[in-house]
Amino acid sequence: MLVNTKEMLEKARKEGYAVGHFNINNLEWTKAILESAQENNSPVILGVSEGAAKYMGGYKTIVGMINGMLEGLNISVPVAVHLDHGSFDGAQKAMEAGFKSVMFDGSHYSIEENIAKTVEIINLANKQNITVEAEVGSIGGEEDGVSGTGEVASPDECKQIANLGVTMLAAGIGNIHGRYPDNWAGLDFDVLKDIQAITSGMPLVLHGGTGIPADMVKKSISLGVSKINVNTECQLVFAAATRKYIEAGKDLEGKGFDPRKLLGPGFKAIKAMVKEKMELFGSINKA
Ligand code: 13P
Repeated sequence: MLVNTKEMLEKARKEGYAVGHFNINNLEWTKAILESAQENNSPVILGVSEGAAKYMGGYKTIVGMINGMLEGLNISVPVAVHLDHGSFDGAQKAMEAGFKSVMFDGSHYSIEENIAKTVEIINLANKQNITVEAEVGSIGGEEDGVSGTGEVASPDECKQIANLGVTMLAAGIGNIHGRYPDNWAGLDFDVLKDIQAITSGMPLVLHGGTGIPADMVKKSISLGVSKINVNTECQLVFAAATRKYIEAGKDLEGKGFDPRKLLGPGFKAIKAMVKEKMELFGSINKA
């Protein structure tokens, strides 16, 4: 059964690890992440951007697919499906379709408008036991048409949003979606420390998980990060494994063109990447 993220993130915050949020794109992605979570006895969050939801045929298709897999693959670890960078409209549609967790990303509005809209989403969510992630500051780079300037969050604004009753808070601390440039300055741990101090125990979310060095990941977990979002890294290993299969001419051998064969190496690569991240985040055997 799909759960919200409250219990899993509060446990992670208390015990000093982070739960991985892995974005999904299709059936193979979803199955690879779920199998990896089950094999590693780890809780997991399946992230869905609005673009990915459209691609997969809508929120209801996604909820149906995941529920089917939980049963068909005997998945017993805690699994949440979570809307990633949702708009005001998108967050409501995802909740109606059965998402038990949503992000409302109002970071591009003024703080007053971000607060007003976040409150509306929280009120709707609370009635249905749905958890809400809000964002302050912005995550640099672009993801599925949602782009940010990379503005570092103001701890004071974080406190205002945290006090509204969100379950988890994403704060821009120099993190970027996609690959980090060579001259990246790294995460701003001074700001993260201030945010942690002022939001008293709230699980914090680190977006742009791809390519953050392991020591920075561990340090951010020690400073209250309990959910880490990873997208691009799974896409890169999937593409590389698929390229290798085709470049080796395997699609031309026998029934190598069968999609269940053709997509196999990419599927395995995602599973391995998810395991690697779960090891780094410390969520293995925490289901
Ligand atoms: P990456 O694509 O950089 O891993 O970021 C994922 C993310 O933050 C999803 O919200």
